Amino acid sequence: MASRSRFLTKASSLALIAWTLATASAAQADSAKVDGAKVDALIGRMTLDEKISFLHGHDDPQHLAGGGYIPGVPRLNIPPLRLADGPAGVRTSRTATAFPAPVALTATFSPDLAKAWGAAVASEALARDQQVLLAPMTNNVRVPTAGRNFETFGEDPLLAARLVGASVKGLQDGGVIATVKHFAANNQETDRKTIDVQVDERTLREIEFPPFQAAVEAGVGAVMCAYNKVGGVAACENPFLLDKVLRQEWGFDGFVMSDWGATHSAAPALKAGLDMEMPRGKFLGEALKAAATKGEVKEADIDRSVRRILIQMDKIGLLADATARPAEDEVQRKAHADLALDIALEGAVLLKNDGILPLAPAVLKQAVVVGPTAKRALFGGGGSAEVKPTALDNPYDALSADAGAALVFAEGLRLEGESIPAAVLSSDIGSFTGAMTIEKSQSSAWEGWITAPETGDYELMLQFTPVGGLALAEADRGMADVELDGKRIIEGGRLFGGSRLIKTSDGLLNQGQIVRLEAGVRHRLKLTVKASAVEPLRLRLAWTTPVLRRRLLAEAAAAAKAAPAAIVFAHVEGTEGEDNRTLALPYRQDELIEAVAAANPNTVVVLNTGAPVLMPWIDRVKAVLQMWYPGQRGGQATADLLAGRANPSGRLPVTFPATDNQTAVAQPERSPGVDGRQTYSEGVRVGYRWYDAEGVKPLFPFGHGLSYTRFDYSGLKVTPAADGLDVVFTLRNAGPWDGAEVAQVYVDGPTTPPEGLVFAPRILAGFERVTLRAGESREIRVKVARRELSYWSPRAKAWRLPPGSRHVRVGGSSRDLPLVLEVKSAP
Ligand code: BGC
Repeated sequence: MASRSRFLTKASSLALIAWTLATASAAQADSAKVDGAKVDALIGRMTLDEKISFLHGHDDPQHLAGGGYIPGVPRLNIPPLRLADGPAGVRTSRTATAFPAPVALTATFSPDLAKAWGAAVASEALARDQQVLLAPMTNNVRVPTAGRNFETFGEDPLLAARLVGASVKGLQDGGVIATVKHFAANNQETDRKTIDVQVDERTLREIEFPPFQAAVEAGVGAVMCAYNKVGGVAACENPFLLDKVLRQEWGFDGFVMSDWGATHSAAPALKAGLDMEMPRGKFLGEALKAAATKGEVKEADIDRSVRRILIQMDKIGLLADATARPAEDEVQRKAHADLALDIALEGAVLLKNDGILPLAPAVLKQAVVVGPTAKRALFGGGGSAEVKPTALDNPYDALSADAGAALVFAEGLRLEGESIPAAVLSSDIGSFTGAMTIEKSQSSAWEGWITAPETGDYELMLQFTPVGGLALAEADRGMADVELDGKRIIEGGRLFGGSRLIKTSDGLLNQGQIVRLEAGVRHRLKLTVKASAVEPLRLRLAWTTPVLRRRLLAEAAAAAKAAPAAIVFAHVEGTEGEDNRTLALPYRQDELIEAVAAANPNTVVVLNTGAPVLMPWIDRVKAVLQMWYPGQRGGQATADLLAGRANPSGRLPVTFPATDNQTAVAQPERSPGVDGRQTYSEGVRVGYRWYDAEGVKPLFPFGHGLSYTRFDYSGLKVTPAADGLDVVFTLRNAGPWDGAEVAQVYVDGPTTPPEGLVFAPRILAGFERVTLRAGESREIRVKVARRELSYWSPRAKAWRLPPGSRHVRVGGSSRDLPLVLEVKSAP
């Protein structure tokens, strides 16, 4: 059977990764024995300047363009340390395997894949001379619209902890220093550098901390502290976070680095537990030296931080005499691309299927494909997790290859619009075509009028040369902004956020804003450009008019009408640096889906988003496949799933709400905050816990995901033990396809809540991803750890097991739990 061969391919790619891991571990085995005496001897020979050079970032003389650089001490044979992002693959100026976004990895519910991911990324980092990987990021998905949700591990702390722990193991065993980030409570992008998070300790302990603790238990070498404040104190100088919890309680022995620009002081930060300021040394450079010279900081405190860094360098073998950089070959490149494909396949979530999927070959042959991202794949999110892929599939080509001929394609919407005709632009100061090249250092401005042919919503766009990327300082970057009728509508040239992730067909960044223009009215338009100090800037104004939009919509509907099925690709860009304002699809994609679905009842929607979206059209389409940002092999994965060469098996790591207002953070004091503060007053009722507690029905619940086969659950037995619960049940693949199920175990809140505390109705307490042949049954054992049954007692300031009995439920999603038993929490 077709799906069977897919499993075999997967097994071989995992085997290869396991081999890579074994080789890397063997190479690191000796170095893992850290030589504290050697490190102390080195510190004993260092000058104060040399010591301080470890405590902050520097310019990389080789411009390898990772995220950060520590020079080392050549005279003591201590090599440099290079730090690169990140969560979806190695981000430098070179290409690397672009893996699916972490949200897709999380949707696999597979610690094995997470570990394999870590091993693969570690070897690519080392091959690019990067020894520190700035991943995984594991801030809880608290705000469903938050820009970086694609980059993290979902809304459930246990799921995140398991996958983060496995990722860290893979990275560290693979010979790099992993960096878990951003500690802590960096749960939105809006005001991320200043926001003061007011959160109670129990919520931190039960919701935000578990994956960080799992990273520490897995041996993470570095922790990155967050931009925001927690309880009024900056995370990067917060003794509660960096000392009490991280070091004293969890026993973390690595180093803490600041997020880029998140350091606010020298002595207080160092004393609180910060070891390394990134990306430069505004505080832990000259200022620290001055503080040391004045005696405000003891040299022993500086030594302590240097020691923490050197110990981690020693652990990965950097202080050994010769460290060979692993070479990369075709076999490995292929294995990593195959792994990216496996993660994309296993993380994709089939949200709805009225029987149309998998597409019958005859239907697929004649299907029409709609939407720009079918051809220009949205393979990853934006910001520091962006990776330059080594190659890139697109769904349209992969589907056409299946069909055996180029499928009919309709754009549906044009992301880059079209150029503004010179006739609608006018000016007192000469003509303007909407396009210009700005030479180095020659800032300029153009001011005039734009006169629209018809009243309506237009998207005005500014398209410009990509900013110089990682290597370029902000001051050297070109910037431009657009004002309409005296109001600034576009601010172009920000490093993250603002522009679309998909560039124009000629490679320009593209940033747009929807505005209302009145027919025949002269609207004042002003374009101001600050030239780049290092490169000429190409700039262009473009727009999408109501006429263009109507034409593209009509073409898509007509093409859909003539076909047996329509596959519409819809997307939302998620990026570091900004949150979305709504969960609704942007660029009027809802209208596009409605128009196609009205023309063709066999409409399938493929989503490329990093977070939930609203689906007002859900009842009018036959199927919805959530591919997330599926990495560089995402096009192939999409086609494999639609055509039935692979069977969907991902499960939602986040709840999909039915409306924007249904979420736990719909009040402004919760998010984005009021007067610089945000209050986590929903407490532990985060994600699905919130919808369950409120008794509201989300669009799709946490843990949901369909398959081309069916699974039956039976025979639940639960045995209380000293270390938790032993849960046993039988899982049967009762359908016609081989496939994988994510069996989920939930535990209800205590029947009599202690200490007057609020508990979630139920929480995920264990899970197991199981692959079964058609017709096969298996007995599944899931251990529910004592911690999952416990709560953080604010009174005792410790974990406590609530008295009384608990309901244990087992099934295929948080809202499909056919098996239940009531048991005592402890024997
Ligand atoms: C991000 C970090 C990232 C760092 C370096 C910051 O803006 O918040 O996650 O590792 O940049 O690129």
